Amino acid sequence: MIDTYGRVATDLRVSLTDKCNLRCTYCMPAEGLPWLPKDELLSDDEVVRLVRLAVQRLGVREVRFTGGEPLLRPGLPGIVERVAALDPRPEISLTTNGIGLARTAPALRAAGLDRINVSLDTLRPEVFRRLARRDRLADVVAGLAAAEAAGLGPVKVNAVLMRGVNEAEAPELLEWCLERGYELRFIEQMPLDAQHGWTRRDMITAQEILGLLGERFRLTPEEPEERGAAPAERWLVDGGPARVGVIASVTRPFCRACDRTRLTADGQVRNCLFATEETDLRGALRGGAPDEDVAELWRKAMWGKRAGGGLDDPSFLQPSRPMSAIGG
Ligand code: GTP
Ligand code: 5AD
Ligand code: SF4
Repeated sequence: MIDTYGRVATDLRVSLTDKCNLRCTYCMPAEGLPWLPKDELLSDDEVVRLVRLAVQRLGVREVRFTGGEPLLRPGLPGIVERVAALDPRPEISLTTNGIGLARTAPALRAAGLDRINVSLDTLRPEVFRRLARRDRLADVVAGLAAAEAAGLGPVKVNAVLMRGVNEAEAPELLEWCLERGYELRFIEQMPLDAQHGWTRRDMITAQEILGLLGERFRLTPEEPEERGAAPAERWLVDGGPARVGVIASVTRPFCRACDRTRLTADGQVRNCLFATEETDLRGALRGGAPDEDVAELWRKAMWGKRAGGGLDDPSFLQPSRPMSAIGG
């Protein structure tokens, strides 16, 4: 699938649920959100059909399952297994908060999951409680270890830093990840929270993150050609081979190289994380459309992808769907 700027979408992100068992303050309010009604969610069969069509007709080579929290989707192992059986077989990854992973990692690996990214913003139980509003740090840490042990590595860890909450922990987090062989990426906080509470002033910028890390580590930039379309800019830590990444969506947008297309849990295609419009594939599926018609709708949706960038400028329009219902 190609857009009007010549970018080719080969990476599909599929949100499997908008629900979550944490309440990270940068994502959603304490009381949660009005979750999508069950009958609007794609069934397992519908998810697999759309992924098959993306892989066989649209050139998608990598599929990442996201949420909300994708481990809350009961059919996840079955979906992974069926996607792994597709020809051509896409690479399959998962972005999760890690809760429940200690139990499910081996089954997910056996089903065909290749890689996993786990969110972890702090190593202090009291900070975790404040940031995620649940007392689950130990579950996440156990989930990470289980993922690594199950062969889902190299495991990546995503951390969002919040001013006055966890930013001082940045070097500690890196040290902890290096000791365990996890690749840590810091993410600039994006204006995608459901409560619209994001402010430019409170966001910890990539530059600040590098400053914080530079006090303890010697960082040298990775060769730019190694980055490809990945959102993270990476640095070798103390000469390498260990690395740390920074995803600077706000201050250094990487939209020019974006290779992603997204499917929401209720079957809408988004051509961008920040898109304000969606294309309804669920309606087409349930209306009896053949594969080729659904594929054509998807191609058209991608053709309209915007150039992107400008997240930091005042004209930026926050999409009405929050991050937790898009899948990051
Ligand atoms: P890898 O293939 O392992 O590098 O995955 P990833 O980093 O693309 O996926 P992950 O789900 O771990 O996302 C990490 C962060 O990158 C999240 O905060 C996402 O919201 C952000 N991200 C992913 N895709 C995009 C994108 O297209 N645009 C922007 N601005 N951010 C993105
Ligand atoms: N800005 C940046 N990252 C966010 N995430 C969730 N909300 C935001 C936000 N507003 C992160 C999660 C997870 C990844 C999918 O996105 O922490 O690691
Ligand atoms: Fe859940 Fe992820 Fe949102 Fe945290 S950031 S509340 S883990 S969806």
